[in-house]
Amino acid sequence: MHNDHFVVQGLAGEKKLRGMVVINGAKNAVLKAMAASVLFEDELCLENVPDTEDVKKLSHLLSLVGMQITFDSTKRNLCMKAETITGTDLDPDTTKAMRGSVMLTGPMLARYGRVSFSAPGGCVIGARPIDLYIEGYKKMGATIEQKGDHFTIVAPKGGLKAAEIFFPLQTVGGTETLMMTAVLAKGKTILKNCAMEPEIVSLAEFLVSCGATIKGIGSTTMEITGGPLLTSGGAPYVTIPDRIETGSFLFLGALCASELRIERCNPAHVESAIHLLRSVGVSVEIEKNDPYKGVICVSTKNDSKQEKNGVRKSVQIRTHEYPGFPTDIQSPAVTFLTQVQGDSQVFETIFEGRFKYVQDLIRMGADITEMNPREILIRGGKPLRALGKDEALQAHDIRAGFAIVMAALVAEGESVISNIYYIDRGYEKLEERLTALGASVKRVLGQKA
Ligand code: EPU
Repeated sequence: MHNDHFVVQGLAGEKKLRGMVVINGAKNAVLKAMAASVLFEDELCLENVPDTEDVKKLSHLLSLVGMQITFDSTKRNLCMKAETITGTDLDPDTTKAMRGSVMLTGPMLARYGRVSFSAPGGCVIGARPIDLYIEGYKKMGATIEQKGDHFTIVAPKGGLKAAEIFFPLQTVGGTETLMMTAVLAKGKTILKNCAMEPEIVSLAEFLVSCGATIKGIGSTTMEITGGPLLTSGGAPYVTIPDRIETGSFLFLGALCASELRIERCNPAHVESAIHLLRSVGVSVEIEKNDPYKGVICVSTKNDSKQEKNGVRKSVQIRTHEYPGFPTDIQSPAVTFLTQVQGDSQVFETIFEGRFKYVQDLIRMGADITEMNPREILIRGGKPLRALGKDEALQAHDIRAGFAIVMAALVAEGESVISNIYYIDRGYEKLEERLTALGASVKRVLGQKA
């Protein structure tokens, strides 16, 4: 799995893909709901769970502290029983390797009064510190012992207490974690300058349906009144469609497909991507507006007419917290923009290291200038070419991995992409889904490219 690579036959710019893709449940919603399972006195089941590497890794981490977990990959159901948990020492190797595991620390601390773990280091997209989580726990009365990157956090006798916490920057994981932590703390916690991503809203609404008291859901100020353990009563958490997967396929469709229907998505969650695509003349039709079963059709029939008329488009993207343009679809958007006539600027405002894949696009023939670590200028319309077997492309992170697959598909020739473990962390069976659209993407097992 870690050494698998993809071999992709490029379409030399022809928009040959066609068909339908079904969107899975959101990885970044499932990981948080899995962390929230620690707040429950009874079994919690999640539906519409994607079979991705990150979900497997977090399941493994939870099972190491004794949680009983069953996953039915056919039904996509994951059930978790927190009452079987016996330890509060989270496996250091897994917590170090997986950023999403930090989310578990709050619920563990709130329920058991103690948690120890190793902090995830900087990762491929930036430094990604955890200071805002630690500050929050301190404000709730916890004592922090740090040895190198290893933390042991202990709640005061009688449990965590409510606090007023201001986030100096909007953090998705920080908002979710301190919200979950406050659900079991004593008194009313106020969180200010919260992130408002749909995954946060979905989790908060579910926790409320299971007994939590949370006000201000979906706004920048939330008030959480702590109480006893939550009860699901057998009602499952139904995972919302993955808006990042939806956005990724929107750009892939616009780049390589004559027509792509994207099913089981929530069109309302990808407004910024739809807006951008329409602004450069791509036809995006919302065929069904539904939060779980929406359908979007992206088609490129009019493209060639525009190019013949000499239409040039310049766009600017600034990644932004929701509902702005997501940092997670910045890289698929950049690959798309390399093929749009005109100059485009892309500013990455969330993470400081999220343009590493751009060097690969440049090697393939894209005209991109890195103005500074957070800003690039794309002179679009230059055809891409495969680099051949001896110069494998890389999946630098989950999303950049998808963007490089897009580049290989639009290029001329055969590309080899290594490090696809990153892609597997976020996109389930990508090669099978692309093959169904008419692409030639083959997984070569167990060999480094
Ligand atoms: N930050 C701090 N201190 C903290 C926490 C965050 O400085 O204690 C900074 C980060 O370094 C970053 C900014 O705050 O510059 C925002 O980070 P945030 O906390 O919002 O990110 P996250 O919760 O760690 C989630 C997603 C990411 C996605 C970001 C931004 C999950 C598991 N991960 O990360 O998803 O890019 O929000 O939307 O939900 C992905 O799926 O590929 C992915 C990287």
